[in-house]
Amino acid sequence: MELIIATNNAGKVREYKDIFAPLGFDVCSQGEKNIHIEVEETGTTFEENAALKAQAIYDRCHTAVISDDSGLEVAALGGEPGIYSARYKGLATEHERRMAILDALQGAEDRSARFVCCICYIDRGGARHLFKGVWNGSIACAEAGTNGFGYDPIFISEDAGGKTTASLPISFKEKYSHRAKAVAMLTDYLKREAVEKVEKAGR
Ligand code: IMP
Repeated sequence: MELIIATNNAGKVREYKDIFAPLGFDVCSQGEKNIHIEVEETGTTFEENAALKAQAIYDRCHTAVISDDSGLEVAALGGEPGIYSARYKGLATEHERRMAILDALQGAEDRSARFVCCICYIDRGGARHLFKGVWNGSIACAEAGTNGFGYDPIFISEDAGGKTTASLPISFKEKYSHRAKAVAMLTDYLKREAVEKVEKAGR
């Protein structure tokens, strides 16, 4: 079955191809389907934004689609940067955005934070399914490490023994991250859906 990844981000497309092709999906990006749109993220939650992106692609091709939306929520900042993680305070670089968080937390007692990833899967019939992965942790006092991207140099997950995500091998993230959790929920769902189809066909 065909599965379109609703993103223009080549890295995301590659990751999702690696995950879903072995499950028997014929995976392609929206670009490979000649859909060259950048959907505006006008939602107020990760769920809404993931659904907006998936729906825009589904409406054009009426085949199965997945999209995701993710970000960092810092408790002492009332959940900011949240859905604005990629454009926090309008700052241009990831380093500037990380420094803005570290500055805002100077002297803060509560440094707890979490990464969230919402995946929206729209099946061939148009039904929406949402999967949310959460990765709890805290914000370090300074940047450390060069692996990963975004806020990885300042995020210390609860299972990381005090090290920032960027200081750990990528394989750690692949196992424990918010995205890994949401992907695991989706793949479980797709496997169950496939089994149900085979069972129905055999009846
Ligand atoms: P999006 O889901 O591609 O819109 O990503 C939103 C933003 O959240 C990214 O640009 C990063 O700043 C941040 N983000 C999401 N996931 C991660 C992660 O795994 N590590 C570090 N930053 C992340």
